Amino acid sequence: MNFVNVKDIKNFNGQEVTLRGWIYNLRTSGKIWFLLLRDGTGLMQGVVSKNDTSEEIFNKKDVLTQESSVTVSGLVHEDKRSPGGFELIVKDIVIHQIAVDYPIALKDHGVEFLMENRHLWIRSRKQWAVLRIRHAVYYAITEYLNENNFFRFDSPILTPNACEGTTTLFQVPYFDLGKAYLSQSGQLYLETGIMSLGRVYDFGPVFRAEKSKTRKHLTEFWMMDAEAAFVEHAENMQIQEELIRFVIRKVLDKNLMELEILERDVDKLRKADAPFGKMTHHEAVDFLRSKGSEINYQDDLGAQDEFLLTEHSDVPIFIEKWPKEIKAFYMKRDPENPNLVLGDDLIAPEGFGEIIGGSQREDDHDLLLQRMQAENMPIQDYQWFLDMRKYGSVPHSGFGVGLERLVTWMSGVQHIRETIPFPRTIYRIQP
Ligand code: 4AD
Ligand code: MG
Repeated sequence: MNFVNVKDIKNFNGQEVTLRGWIYNLRTSGKIWFLLLRDGTGLMQGVVSKNDTSEEIFNKKDVLTQESSVTVSGLVHEDKRSPGGFELIVKDIVIHQIAVDYPIALKDHGVEFLMENRHLWIRSRKQWAVLRIRHAVYYAITEYLNENNFFRFDSPILTPNACEGTTTLFQVPYFDLGKAYLSQSGQLYLETGIMSLGRVYDFGPVFRAEKSKTRKHLTEFWMMDAEAAFVEHAENMQIQEELIRFVIRKVLDKNLMELEILERDVDKLRKADAPFGKMTHHEAVDFLRSKGSEINYQDDLGAQDEFLLTEHSDVPIFIEKWPKEIKAFYMKRDPENPNLVLGDDLIAPEGFGEIIGGSQREDDHDLLLQRMQAENMPIQDYQWFLDMRKYGSVPHSGFGVGLERLVTWMSGVQHIRETIPFPRTIYRIQP
């Protein structure tokens, strides 16, 4: 039998084909009824009329339901009014299973209900579109890295120490060795990888016991950490910009249909593919204070600050050179001002917030050690990390992209929980 996918249907105009999938919707009007079939690759309308099929097949309308699984055969027929421009004149329907009382009807449901039914909600059109964009973003990031001399270097998830501070660590019991932590970022391990491979990246789940319940925070999310030897602060930002602009172009190239389903303003994405903005943390605070904010020069940026900073910008903005007190221990001090570090956050426009955190790393053994001691870190657990500064230390930099933050921005959805198949937040671990 000649099974085809909905996405390829245009190649079969005038031919008989067989499709496999699920009933998305049913509509009947007397002598004729319509089914919307989804097969994972797309959505297509089938027309069932007494003229084209047997009584037996025609009467399947009485037993079929939303989300029943079927194999449908028929003749492909170009029809401009149908979704996708083609419809199927149905000849045969084989039912695999009848779905009884599918809970998610094609109407608005409350978000709590949808989250309870996340395992089913992912079948809905918008969720389908977001998951396809997630796939494209993931693919684009790895494509860019693979073509720019970065080697995949998988970092461990069970780790003996913290990367991003101890307040958001998840602990797990670890046999006779006491406890382990779930990784917050593979960065520290990637720093060892560059001494072998030059440029490396990892891409996997990371964990943060975030108490915040904002629309931007998950407790389990996917991060791509990249790290490169002999790259300093300015070049580090250049790589980040190139990568993000590459992703934007790929999404615009591959996902126009999905973006349309999501009613995303595509023009905004097009405009973001232009040279990014840049300001120091100090300049950012100056700007915010001029807007009436009470933020101080030692303060981190909040969601409202990030919004104000990018409000009139089409492109993402780098905030660089941060006060060392509010950034991680591994960031390199600014040679021009020892109170600052060579870190950068990349803030997406339209209020989507921070999508990348990166920095040049402290490569001087003694300065790094002093900083760690000042922060009362357990030095013995980080000996291996300090070794990188003892055996052939080099200037190096890296950054971490939050996959779901980037997908939220690309797809324009209002909440990060829609950008990952099964979101984990402070209040939810089901399903
Ligand atoms: O800025 P962060 O904390 O940076 C690091 O972890 C570095 N070690 C990365 C590196 O240099 N290799 O996290 C990086 C990105 C953020 O910019 C944000 O996009 C995302 O990870 N992120 C989160 N995404 C969803 N939920 C959370 N709770 C997140 N925390 C950070
Ligand atoms: Mg950050």
